[in-house]
Amino acid sequence: MNKDSLKKFRLKIEGLDLEILRLLNDRASVSLEIGKLKAEDGLDIRDREREEAIFEYLSHENKGPLKTFEMNQIFEKIISISRRLQSMETFNRADSESATPTLPSSFKGEGSGVGAELLHAKESCTIGGRTSVYGLLGTPVAQSMSPLMHNTAFALLGIDAVYLPFKVDNLPGALAGMRALHIKGASVTHPFKEQVIGLIDEIDDTANKIGAVNTLICEKNTIRGTNTDCVGAVRCIEALLPIKGHTFVVLGAGGAARAVVFGISSKGGTPVVVGRTEEKGRALAGEFDCAFVPLSQIDDIKGDCLVNTTPVGMYPKADETPVPRSVLGKYKAVADVIYNPLKTRLLREAEAAGCAVASGFEMFVYQGVEQFTIWTGRDAPAKEMREVVYHRLSGSGQ
Ligand SMILES: NC(=O)c1ccc[n+]([C@@H]2O[C@H](COP(=O)([O-])OP(=O)(O)OC[C@H]3O[C@@H](n4cnc5c(N)ncnc54)[C@H](OP(=O)(O)O)[C@@H]3O)[C@@H](O)[C@H]2O)c1
Repeated sequence: MNKDSLKKFRLKIEGLDLEILRLLNDRASVSLEIGKLKAEDGLDIRDREREEAIFEYLSHENKGPLKTFEMNQIFEKIISISRRLQSMETFNRADSESATPTLPSSFKGEGSGVGAELLHAKESCTIGGRTSVYGLLGTPVAQSMSPLMHNTAFALLGIDAVYLPFKVDNLPGALAGMRALHIKGASVTHPFKEQVIGLIDEIDDTANKIGAVNTLICEKNTIRGTNTDCVGAVRCIEALLPIKGHTFVVLGAGGAARAVVFGISSKGGTPVVVGRTEEKGRALAGEFDCAFVPLSQIDDIKGDCLVNTTPVGMYPKADETPVPRSVLGKYKAVADVIYNPLKTRLLREAEAAGCAVASGFEMFVYQGVEQFTIWTGRDAPAKEMREVVYHRLSGSGQ
């Protein structure tokens, strides 16, 4: 190797890097100016048409050696960071207009991402004597995206509240604690969604029919339960095709399947339960008056949309898939309740087979959006909640 040449090229790279850095900062300054204009006019931060136009002119101008997809990867990151800068601009503006600026200091625990940036922009705001407490009851909870999502929403709307993860070993004890500590609401996750029903004061009709509670509201020492998973599932599926008049092949017969089957039935669709454990699958199908087919006969079923509610394909076993690739071409659409990874092997194979696909990520965000509105009575900032979780999941490498 010619050491002099290497040194010369490295010096050239350093010079180019400094130039790129200067240009990136120039670009970020212009982006912030655009953010201010958007905030003044109340415009959405994300302008998909504009983003598409950017990629189009860049790919037209790209002379290589970067391939178009490589150049796209770089600009996707630049554009996503620009959006975050602009979000902060909107947030700062809303906050400076608000009489009670509130951002929970618990944001510090969230590491990098949009939420953390909001924190760094607002470090002076802290939890106070009037801060309302919400939380997540389950085990495990460490991987949950709910704290990030709800705390971002509280901060963006200037609501003096914090959402914390509670790893629960003893559910009756946790519910007694909730009453005693005036915790205003909680999400309920694995493995308590069914068990919690017998331990609270009231459940609504939806949760009763689904047979599972994922949302608690605590007021005046009374705990009420509802279920927002089915709202999330319906919104996720309706982004693919109308539910009414279509047949949905639902893989699995657990808690998520109950919410999905209920959501589909209540919107006029026809669910078909497909499971590996016949007794459990038949029981669920019997409750919702629909058909059951054993998983071993998946080849023989006809339907418009396949919905996976099993954990097969979830991180860290992301190379698994619940059905053979060969059956996917029969469906118009495929949805997965799994949101980590964002795109499961099932969805990748379905896309390759020409199906429209939806990730459990959408279901997760919308069940949270619904919870937020139930707890606060305010319209949830769905777009930002979606973005902050998407950013974390896509950046986590999981
Ligand atoms: N996106 C969201 O907002 C959201 C919300 C809720 C849940 N989820 C996700 O949904 C998934 C399921 O959760 P859950 O609460 O419904 O779990 P669950 O109650 O344990 O039910 C899991 C179901 O999957 C079936 N199953 C498990 N492994 C299987 C395999 N290898 N092959 C075939 N079937 C298999 C089980 O079969 P058996 O009947 O034989 O036990 C059961 O019917 C999890 O990944 C969870 O994270 C996502």
